[in-house]
Amino acid sequence: MTGKELLSKAEEARKNAYVPYSGFAVGAAALSKDGRVFTGCNIENAAYGVTNCAERTAIFKAISEGVREFAALAVVADTAGPVSPCGACRQVMAEFFEPDMPIYLGSMQGAGIQTEIKSLLPGAFTSKELKHKDDY
Ligand code: THU
Repeated sequence: MTGKELLSKAEEARKNAYVPYSGFAVGAAALSKDGRVFTGCNIENAAYGVTNCAERTAIFKAISEGVREFAALAVVADTAGPVSPCGACRQVMAEFFEPDMPIYLGSMQGAGIQTEIKSLLPGAFTSKELKHKDDY
């Protein structure tokens, strides 16, 4: 699957965004190494802090279905340039993505870039920092 195809899955998922507070709809699509696509949208809440971003929705859907290895992620929003994932989502990506795995950041205006988690979150805190890392 190409980056463009994965971005169009993210655009489709964006239509389901639940955004009564910000009005800012985001869509994401995570491709597992075994070829399955898990889509996600942002889901807001009257208690704003428990809002879930589109990226984490897609990644958590995949993880909860047993996926542990990812091949790519696409994210899209109505931004002038490529959408910039929030810090919490970058930390979740660092947990599950290989440093060089392609991440496609798009916009409804057509802008798009390919990046990777090692660039989005250099120096990430990961299991390597933990003493009991071998337990996992
Ligand atoms: N949001 C995402 O879903 N992903 C991002 O990468 C940035 C922010 C959501 C959270 C909230 O629902 C809205 O965008 C405005 O912050």
